[in-house]
Amino acid sequence: MRVLGIETSCDETGIAIYDTTSGLLANELFSQIDLHALYGGVVPELASRDHLRRLPSLLEAALSKINHDWKSIDCIAYTQGPGLAGALLTGCSFAEALGMAHNIPTLGIHHLEGHLLSPLLEAPSTTFPFIALLVSGGHSQIMRVDRIGDYVILGETRDDAAGEAFDKTAKLLGLPYPGGPQLAKIAAQGKPSKLSLPRPMLHSKDYDFSFSGLKTAVLTTLQQNPDISHADLAYEFQEAITDVLAEKTFKAMREHEITTLIVAGGVGANLRLREKLNHFAKKRRATVLYPDLKLCTDNGAMIAFAAAMKLQNGASSDTARKINAQPRWSLTGRD
Ligand code: KG4
Ligand code: ZN
Repeated sequence: MRVLGIETSCDETGIAIYDTTSGLLANELFSQIDLHALYGGVVPELASRDHLRRLPSLLEAALSKINHDWKSIDCIAYTQGPGLAGALLTGCSFAEALGMAHNIPTLGIHHLEGHLLSPLLEAPSTTFPFIALLVSGGHSQIMRVDRIGDYVILGETRDDAAGEAFDKTAKLLGLPYPGGPQLAKIAAQGKPSKLSLPRPMLHSKDYDFSFSGLKTAVLTTLQQNPDISHADLAYEFQEAITDVLAEKTFKAMREHEITTLIVAGGVGANLRLREKLNHFAKKRRATVLYPDLKLCTDNGAMIAFAAAMKLQNGASSDTARKINAQPRWSLTGRD
């Protein structure tokens, strides 16, 4: 089975082709980071316009990898939500138009399901159940996955997402957008100091997170100590947030007696978080899977792959040609 996947939920335009026999045949990506950096964050209208501008050439690049063999494509998958309404509409309309022109059915995919399953792209023999830590700019969740399509949210953030906390804190430190990777970069030059930031909800009995207080603590620290080393503050912030993320994830693995962990979403690229998770996994003889760094952030490959997995597990694509964009959409029906 061969699926063309289209991702346009936020500020990355991605088109990929995944084949269940030969693997990933194309993975074309354009990041709008430079466009939005001028404004310090994603400007939705500019994002939609830029998706429209990039989609045709990315499609052409992807198709060239399969000699423009449209007949070999069984399904066109696109990110149906959640995400920016206008941005989602561009991908969805593009997918439906291509489907109509080439008589190929389409399938809308939940963006988080794409992230959640992406580590399996490179480790298809992974067995269920597993715990998934999904940490992106918009979401922070710990999930239990018993099979494809069976997702239980064990815990989630009560305010800011982990990536959002990284980005907002980076902004406080005067770092350019997107702040997560920039903050991680300067944190690597920092060192432990007398400075101590809170670890919100570290010992709460649930699996939930709360990161907005941590960001406020950074603001207060900066106001009270204007000469503080930004590298040391970034270091302590990264320690605090990764302590909470790692500890809650371990708790879920221990209490659910699950020894496989999948880490997905942009913050999954954070090397300090990976160090802590790997350390725990080694002690507990657990396995941790991360998507390849280029699959951690938004991309079309995860959408094509998730669609292929769902279709193989009984989901059906259709030719109804509906324009389905769901800016708010819960993966589990719990919202
Ligand atoms: O999954 P993603 O590409 O897009 C969303 O669906 O949100 O995640 C983007 C988020 C941003 O907040 C970005 O700052 C963060 O992931 N991020 C990182 C790192 N790389 C990306 N945060 C911390 N450390 C990193 N190395
Ligand atoms: Zn994402």
